Amino acid sequence: MKKISIESSFFTENRKKLSALMMADSAAVINSNDILPSNADGTVKFIQNSDLFYLTGIEQEETILMLNPGSRNEDLREVLFIRDYNQDLEVWEGKKLSPAVASEISGIKTVYELSRFEDALHDTMCSVTNIYLNTNDHDRSKNEVESRDLRFINYCKKYYPLHSYHRLSPLIYGLRTIKSKTEIDLLQKACDITGDGFRRLLKFVKPGVMEYEVQAELAHEFIKQGTGFADYEPIIASGENACFLHYIKNDDPCNDGDILLLDIAAGWANYNADMTRSIPVNGKFTGRQKDVYNAVLRAMRGTIKEMKPGLSVRDIIMITRELIAKELVDLKLVKPSDVKDVKQKSAEFKKYYPHDVSHFLGLGVHDVGVFEQELKPGMVLTCEPGIYIRDEKLGIRLENDIVITEGGNLDLMKNVPVDADEIEQLMNG
Ligand code: GLY
Ligand code: MN
Ligand code: MN
Repeated sequence: MKKISIESSFFTENRKKLSALMMADSAAVINSNDILPSNADGTVKFIQNSDLFYLTGIEQEETILMLNPGSRNEDLREVLFIRDYNQDLEVWEGKKLSPAVASEISGIKTVYELSRFEDALHDTMCSVTNIYLNTNDHDRSKNEVESRDLRFINYCKKYYPLHSYHRLSPLIYGLRTIKSKTEIDLLQKACDITGDGFRRLLKFVKPGVMEYEVQAELAHEFIKQGTGFADYEPIIASGENACFLHYIKNDDPCNDGDILLLDIAAGWANYNADMTRSIPVNGKFTGRQKDVYNAVLRAMRGTIKEMKPGLSVRDIIMITRELIAKELVDLKLVKPSDVKDVKQKSAEFKKYYPHDVSHFLGLGVHDVGVFEQELKPGMVLTCEPGIYIRDEKLGIRLENDIVITEGGNLDLMKNVPVDADEIEQLMNG
């Protein structure tokens, strides 16, 4: 994939902001993710720990960042540890990062090989009382595998039991929730490539193509542009499949008369777009399909209008529920009494609208952030209402990515076709 360089000043600034939040007499240690095994000697694709990437830009495994902002020795306030040089490994895997290159990427002056870590840690432990350690505190994470960070926490507690340990995540998640201009530009690029992929598949989809062939078209566009899919499995779901929210088999044909739901996006420099479009396989919506489509589109537009500083994600969720409830009544799918209290979704309401409208977006597809917190400029969120009518084998979801600004918001997907008429034109032109 394309080498994408982000100015090292971005990572330096992130470390500076984090160091400013740390209490006096403290250090922090952040580990990379593991390369996870699959079967035999196989491994799954390596994905860097988002917090480590945010603070260093280093995408290599077996990397550790140690921050000790109060150190008397200025050179030891930020230390990066990377894998030791290994000639044999180089023969198989090519060049790993040298200290000089790691320093250039991260902006960190002091880069040591990993074999020096234990001694350096000991020195740090002897000089501070408070240690911040990193844990995955995403409320939807369901990880049964012990991460490097967790193993390291156990190590620290065993060998340094009298230190005071603190969670790093509240500090770093707060920072990551507000995106800088650099991050918004990276997200915009991911959204633009996603849009290119979408335009490409509008010309490709026709009755009889397989869902995986649609995926291949997208992969072609993304890889040609030097990147890959965002960090979630693409959902390419025709007909009834669109009603299964996380359908990822993508192995059915797209049939004449189906709506094809595409929850697909590109990533860029570890930042993720997240987009959904729903298109008629034969290039023309039926009257019924267009009615449901426009209901979802009105709910999306009505929601985006409200996404501005002051309200919380929870508030936005309730606003969308009200909008969808009205559409469901107008479509005669539910009775007004079924949706009278949108706070408590009734079974009837849930049947047609089983999810909610938004999540934070960034280095994670479901990025870190607190739903109860007021929206602030720099937050990036999805807006993704949908209506699913399984009896009609019809599922429609639309999803754009929205940056909160001072006075309102900016839609990063504003250039990606979404009007039903425009989609029909592009499919037929
Ligand atoms: N693509 C996953 C989601 O929309 O949340
Ligand atoms: Mn989403
Ligand atoms: Mn999505």
